[in-house]
Amino acid sequence: MALQNFWIIFFKYHSLNDQKMVIGFAYLSIRCYGSFRSAGYQIVVRDDYQNKGVGTILTSHIIHTAKKFRINVIRLSVLTENTRAIKLYKKFGFVIESHHERADVWRGKISDVYHMALHLS
Ligand SMILES: CC(C)(COP(=O)(O)OP(=O)(O)OC[C@H]1O[C@@H](n2cnc3c(N)ncnc32)[C@H](O)[C@@H]1OP(=O)(O)O)[C@@H](O)C(=O)NCCC(=O)NCCS
Repeated sequence: MALQNFWIIFFKYHSLNDQKMVIGFAYLSIRCYGSFRSAGYQIVVRDDYQNKGVGTILTSHIIHTAKKFRINVIRLSVLTENTRAIKLYKKFGFVIESHHERADVWRGKISDVYHMALHLS
């Protein structure tokens, strides 16, 4: 794949009290096929800052930026038991497109995975 057909958009979120501390980050890894642009989405928020709206802010920025870059679809994979992440994604319009049984391992346990997508155009 040619390098100009792949790029990454990365956001990090800093603590308001300690600007050196990153409390969350999110990125899109974008692939282009002609005029079609598909992005994979990853997000992580520090354990002690979860459930305080950081994931919502990061995801909102990511989607806003994806629209500016004319991304057609954002895709992600999530463990089916990760209800917090699924709630976050659904809030922004992501839909479950497929369910894969025993598709990943997390903390020593084999888990099912949803593939979710947000179609922007
Ligand atoms: C998933 C993750 C990114 C979400 O970020 P966050 O900052 O915790 O999310 P927010 O606080 O913005 O939003 C969480 C939402 O889930 C809801 N929620 C919290 N706990 C929940 C639970 N156990 N089940 C369902 N919903 C839950 C909250 O009420 C909130 O919804 P609301 O905005 O409608 O009130 C973060 O928790 C994280 O990094 N988890 C570990 C890594 C991970 O799972 N990454 C995603 C891999 S696909």
